[in-house]
Parts: sequence; structure tokens; C-alpha cells
Amino acid sequence: MRIPGTLYGSLLFERPEHRGTVARVESFLSRPGPLGVEIGFDHGMCLLDRARRFPAANWLGAEVRRRRVDAVSRHAPENCLPLRVDGRALLALLPPGRVDWLYVLFPTPFGDRRELFSPEFGEVVARSLRPGGIVYIRTDVATLHASATAVLGSWARSEPPPLGTELSRRERVCARDGIAVYDLCVRSKSP
Ligand SMILES: C[S@@+](CC[C@H](N)C(=O)[O-])C[C@H]1O[C@@H](n2cnc3c(N)ncnc32)[C@H](O)[C@@H]1O
Repeated sequence: MRIPGTLYGSLLFERPEHRGTVARVESFLSRPGPLGVEIGFDHGMCLLDRARRFPAANWLGAEVRRRRVDAVSRHAPENCLPLRVDGRALLALLPPGRVDWLYVLFPTPFGDRRELFSPEFGEVVARSLRPGGIVYIRTDVATLHASATAVLGSWARSEPPPLGTELSRRERVCARDGIAVYDLCVRSKSP
């Protein structure tokens, strides 16, 4: 599936040089248990915290900054696979209905054609989630909350997916400085 704006191209995994990553993802997916995916894990505090706190589940992370991925990978337990990849390309690679929980915490406000919350993002999320799977989007940027709501706001509201106790870097700043935070937490349709 082509998703406009995807860094490195949404057909990334069809290139031969990425066969190794595809194989790592396929092997990771063979593990039993539910699957959580986080897009833009950055320092990885939340991703690692969830992986340690919920060891029966598996945790895939997508982050485009190589240094962050390398740093987080050093601390990742077996049930956690941090990858240097655009989250949209990763979702498009996963088998349909495979994701139980999708987290997007404080996405980058690109504000142009690289905007994360496009209609194609909605399609790839809908395809990757199992029926009843949960999407949890947190931002302090009102326009991003509005664009996420435009794409996924027609879905049923949900309780949050499993959360740890660690705050992300941006969450800490918002809590410290009293910055308003917007949550969108929705559930994909059950059959
Ligand atoms: C504003 S930072 C927030 C980081 C962290 N989630 C937090 O709450 O502090 C957004 C992060 O998402 C990453 N990012 C942006 N677009 C991405 C994409 N399409 N796929 C994966 N990571 C992305 C950036 O490199 C950055 O680390």
C-alpha cells in the first residue's frame, strides 16, 4: 500500500536490502501473545516500561531516528523489538488484524504532506488492528488532535490500552509546564 509522505517510501520493505528487517519482524510475530505497536518511541521510556510490565505481550516500536533506536535496542527485553522505520511502513508490513494496541504519543507536528494523520493512515491502521483493537493518540498540539479525530474520530471511544507508569519525554514537559494534552482513544469495529 502506498502511503503519501512515508519516510523512505511506503514500499520500503519490498526492497531487497530490507529483507533482514522483514525476517526479524516475521520471527517476532511468531511469538504468542498480544501485540502492541508504538510509533515514534523516541527515548523509548514508555515502550520499554510496557515491555517489562506486560511480559506476556509483545511490543514493536517504530522510530525514524537511528540513534534513538540503537540506544533503546540495547535495553530491550526479548518481547520488545525497536526498529528504525516509519511507523506507517511498519503497519503496512504487518498481517491484517495483527495489532492489539497502537500508541502514538506526541507525534511530530510536520504540518505538510508528511502529516501522519492522513486518510491513508486511517486505512492502514484499520487494516492492521484486530477487531476491537485500540488506538491511543496523545498530543499537546490542538491541530494534530483535530486531524487525528478527522481520520479516526468516527470509531467508538475506548478505555486506554495497557499503560505503564513511565511518562514520555514530552508528557513530562507537559505535566511540568501545565500544558494541555488531548487524548483520542478509539476501538476498531468488532465483526
Ligand atoms: C515529538 S517526538 C515525541 C516523542 C515521544 N513519543 C514523546 O512523547 O516524548 C516525535 C517522535 O516521533 C518520531 N517520528 C516522527 N515521525 C515518525 C514516523 N512516521 N514513524 C516513526 N517515528 C516517527 C520522531 O523521530 C520523534 O522521535
